[in-house]
Amino acid sequence: MMVDQQHYRTIWLKGDDARVVQVIDQTRLPHAFEILDLHTVAEACLAIRHMTVRGAGLIGACAAFGMYLAALEAPDAHFVAFLEQAGVQLQATRPTAANLAWAVQRMLRALATAASPQAARLRARQEAQAIADEDVDHCRRIGVHGLALIEGLARSKPGQTLNILTHCNAGWLAFVDIGSATAPIYAAHDAGIPVHVWVDETRPRNQGASLTAWELDQHGVPHTLIADNAGGHLMQHGLVDLVITGADRVTRNGDAANKIGTYLKALAAHDNRVPMVVALPSSTFDFAMRDGVTNIPIEERDAEEVRWMGGRTESGVLESVRICPQSTPARNWGFDVTPARLISKLVCERGMCDANEAAILTLFPEQA
Ligand code: MRU
Repeated sequence: MMVDQQHYRTIWLKGDDARVVQVIDQTRLPHAFEILDLHTVAEACLAIRHMTVRGAGLIGACAAFGMYLAALEAPDAHFVAFLEQAGVQLQATRPTAANLAWAVQRMLRALATAASPQAARLRARQEAQAIADEDVDHCRRIGVHGLALIEGLARSKPGQTLNILTHCNAGWLAFVDIGSATAPIYAAHDAGIPVHVWVDETRPRNQGASLTAWELDQHGVPHTLIADNAGGHLMQHGLVDLVITGADRVTRNGDAANKIGTYLKALAAHDNRVPMVVALPSSTFDFAMRDGVTNIPIEERDAEEVRWMGGRTESGVLESVRICPQSTPARNWGFDVTPARLISKLVCERGMCDANEAAILTLFPEQA
């Protein structure tokens, strides 16, 4: 995507010798655009854990490049053991997004058949790059399929702006490029369909306010930031035509884990007959799991993220302030699960389908 007229992905290899991975430091956005170097698998783990990089697709890509860095670090004598341990460390960083384990396992499979550590290092670089490139291609295809849906809605409101509500950031910052939930929005905007996005602020980390608002602005898409709890009110008053979110894990039967608060938006959308669409690449599916409400591991993060809020002061200083009494306890669940029955459509790179096992398997017959 373009940032101040220059094209960026969210992760890439630096220079010709490609021994360093570079990422956009998302903890600094929207106040500063800074690039961070990752030299080791330990640094890749920290970048994921501290949410320097975040979002299901990007976490997966960072894990893949993390495995590449591990392959560079691994001593020949203990190559396989080192790589396996690196995979365990990467997978332990964040539990909810399916893409993380998917990427680590794919890297391990790719390296398993290499004839020597040196061959495996080359293979690791190629496979990590392939995962990143596929992520971009899948997001582009999600945009194509999602555009058809938006065109249908636009036909029912000729000449009027379509209001789309999104939660958190499933934009290009959450992937290698383009995004999942934002892909159809960018495609519609670029095709000249008048769209306007309601951006949920997405407490406690405020990915909507700090990331989605920033990237929509970079792309010139009209948008308005709203408090997390405003969505239901807007839907009751006919001000939302479509809710579209990303997902961190979608089970075989269509239950979708996404940023905490998504379930409440889905309930409000259902009550107001607003279509609730979940966009995801196939790497986010967990075909081994059925009941997402019971089984998807929900990350619980540091409660300080709820008690404190960061931002930029009038004088330009980045600061955190506590928003509750000193002694107030807090809890901080990162995700919730929207049951399939509340989801109107899933959109992935292979097309669009209902959120149930039979429909999903028509797009993924090899998983039957
Ligand atoms: O905690 P995060 O920022 O890594 O959470 C990921 C998200 O931004 C959302 O849940 C998103 O909608 C899905 S990621 C494509």
